[in-house]
Amino acid sequence: MADQLVDRFGRRVEYVRLSVTDRCDFRCVYCMAEEMQFLPRNEVLSLEELYQVSRAFVELGVNKIRLTGGEPLVRKGILGLIEQLGQLPAELLITTNGSQLPVMANDLKRLGVDRLNISLDSLQADKFKRLTRTGKLNQVLEGIDAAIAAGFERIKLNAVVLKGRNDDEVLDLVEFARHKGVDITFIEEMPLGAITEHDREEAYCSSDELHQIISQRYDLIDSTEKTGGPSHYYRMPDSDSRVGFISPHSHNFCSECNRVRMTVEGRLLLCLGNEHSMDLRQVMRDHPDNIEVLKQHMIQAMDLKPEQHHFDLSEEQPQIVRFMNMTGG
Ligand code: GTP
Ligand code: 5AD
Ligand code: SF4
Repeated sequence: MADQLVDRFGRRVEYVRLSVTDRCDFRCVYCMAEEMQFLPRNEVLSLEELYQVSRAFVELGVNKIRLTGGEPLVRKGILGLIEQLGQLPAELLITTNGSQLPVMANDLKRLGVDRLNISLDSLQADKFKRLTRTGKLNQVLEGIDAAIAAGFERIKLNAVVLKGRNDDEVLDLVEFARHKGVDITFIEEMPLGAITEHDREEAYCSSDELHQIISQRYDLIDSTEKTGGPSHYYRMPDSDSRVGFISPHSHNFCSECNRVRMTVEGRLLLCLGNEHSMDLRQVMRDHPDNIEVLKQHMIQAMDLKPEQHHFDLSEEQPQIVRFMNMTGG
């Protein structure tokens, strides 16, 4: 049997999240500090290195590659990389803030992107602005429409819900998703990087609370359907849209973990909530064009994958100082 990626707990890794840039045109309050220093160019994987890593993963049985960021669509030359990745025998997916979709959605579809997840935390322009600091709601709404018009199916909206900031919009967001015929997932905020704008423990909104609010208006039917990610989905009898919950605090999903991440500076990160990692940028720069050496390192790195994350919202300083934009969520 060909080499595969299996960790010490018997979990097979088939899903890679590839952060292609730490930059973003938004500054979401749960993701970044207001003033961020971005990495210099030579510390970020080149487009060639990103392709090489992806090929190696696919040769090791990975069947799902998700481009993340920062905002992946602001990386210079991203369409060229997407064209190459679209030809690999793996699903190609993108998680985006939606801002570039009005101009890029058709190209993404044409180049072989299979699915899009689009962040949308609020439907109210002023609140959206406060949550994203620099984002424009209209641009994202246009982006969602452009993705639908381009023919993307099973688009998923992602909403990080924070008490006192957007928890009053949960029903409106579900209604919006139903109206557009897309799925929506509500995410419990994870403590990555030191933020100052809110207290994460106070802002915590559990998936169970949200489930209760939503089920007062809509019948939520528990579904076993999976998309390969951590979301637990519910169907509604009168709609094709699904409502999902990603609950790193209240319903740990680590036993089913099938994924690893490449940070923007080429660190293979074995778990979002830990720092266990291997520097694959160094491997590639020491052994240019040697995909076999790269694959051997990836296989060895599986022994570093920890059993689970341990997020603690009550800590004053989060254990993980890296912000989400380095890792792509
Ligand atoms: P699908 O392919 O549609 O299932 O996507 P996904 O939910 O895997 O990806 P998306 O980029 O939409 O991620 C949504 C949220 O899930 C983000 O906040 C991620 O940080 C979070 N997430 C994804 N994988 C993990 C994981 O392994 N651990 C933790 N703690 N969070 C994760
Ligand atoms: N906790 C949970 N989700 C987060 N995201 C960004 N930062 C955080 C966080 N601290 C989400 C974004 C996007 C996805 C990639 O991760 O909203 O949908
Ligand atoms: Fe940018 Fe996404 Fe982070 Fe918001 S969550 S700042 S859109 S990378």
